[in-house]
Amino acid sequence: MEGLKVLIIGSGGREHALVWKIAQSGLVGKVYAAPGNPGMGKLAECFDVRADDIEGLARLAGQVDADLVVVGPEVPLALGITDRLAQDGRKVFGPCKECARLESSKAFSKQMMVESGVPTGRAAIFEDAKQAMEALKKAEGPMVVKLDGLAAGKGVVVTETPEEAALALSRLEKLQPGGRIILEERLEGVETSLLCICDGIRALPLMPAKDYKRALDGDKGPNTGGMGSVAPSPFVSMEQAEELTELTVVPILKKLAEKGLHYRGVLYAGLMLTDGGPKVLEYNCRFGDPETQVVLPLMEDDLAEIMLEACEGRMERSSIRFKEGASVCVVMASKGYPDMYDKGFRIDLPKDGELDEGVVIFHAGTKQDCSCRTTTDGGRVLAVSALGKDVDEATDKAYGAVDKVQCANLFTRSDIGTGRKGR
Ligand code: AMP
Ligand code: GLY
Repeated sequence: MEGLKVLIIGSGGREHALVWKIAQSGLVGKVYAAPGNPGMGKLAECFDVRADDIEGLARLAGQVDADLVVVGPEVPLALGITDRLAQDGRKVFGPCKECARLESSKAFSKQMMVESGVPTGRAAIFEDAKQAMEALKKAEGPMVVKLDGLAAGKGVVVTETPEEAALALSRLEKLQPGGRIILEERLEGVETSLLCICDGIRALPLMPAKDYKRALDGDKGPNTGGMGSVAPSPFVSMEQAEELTELTVVPILKKLAEKGLHYRGVLYAGLMLTDGGPKVLEYNCRFGDPETQVVLPLMEDDLAEIMLEACEGRMERSSIRFKEGASVCVVMASKGYPDMYDKGFRIDLPKDGELDEGVVIFHAGTKQDCSCRTTTDGGRVLAVSALGKDVDEATDKAYGAVDKVQCANLFTRSDIGTGRKGR
């Protein structure tokens, strides 16, 4: 039998990791990516179609006759790529537009949590900033101000006092004028992510991973998309992940199903482990980046097979299996990220033979210039992942590979993994 043709949408480190894992599947014959990145070159044929060009992607899926389409980022999901491709009879791993509102509308997401009895912080939803401002005059205690819509990580501000919240609100409003606003109680505790693969009814957790969100060592500096990751998570075991799935993901799937909606894809719950138990901060409708770059190298099972089961609503296995050991990913970012940074710096990468076993360098923001040289082309440029028998070994291997990358404009955190490097 000819292998499956799989099209992966997106161009970051997460998508490179998806391509890498899916290309290993015994079921898969050919992998395509749109727009993809230079690191995927050997594993996938890349097409220059943007991840938000829904009609262009539908044409491409037809042209390559994709048996399975895997959507990496949230924007095409929020734009309805899944619904559009379903019209052509294609199988898509990624939720429909209405289900993707769990990420694209924080107000919808909060309503769903409340309706389905999922533990979450107390919150009020306002039709616009003016109403929220009025409410802040009578508010007390530390609050979090959130924009309703997708804001590329810039739509949430955690504050100390209602006065600070009012200031944050007037700044935030400019990003989405006239949009709805959520005011939420500030929760204290350890933050962790739970990622599940869902088939519309059932949910199976992936191995929990820790993400390093701040730009600088010791969790200092501005928030970023993620400067590194480690799996297994030091905070949440696989058994706890199963319990958290029952508490925070399954009730949402049930509530959606009651509305005739079947969530098929990854549901990612951002959790705060508070003294009063776990509470959901937000849902994302996609894999985490850079969590994917540590979780997939540890996955024992065939990802393409699981994705097909999920798309077809027949995920009957009892769990997803992971290898022993640990995985660490160090992100190499452009100096200045997450604020202003320059692009176009030449990168000299080590050859495959120069890397330790279990090390993979995923490309995140790279480009190939006209003489086929790789250059920097984004904030997060490379995601260097390494497997080890434990976190110590994986950390050493990952930083060992980082040292072999030559580029004049990249920086890393030096405390990812064991945090022992003191670099
Ligand atoms: P969100 O997009 O809702 O996850 O918010 C982004 C970040 O803001 C989270 O990862 C948390 O660090 C923080 N955050 C969001 N909601 C709260 C909350 N209710 N209490 C404390 N921190 C929060
Ligand atoms: N690493 C956080 C995210 O993917 O949202």
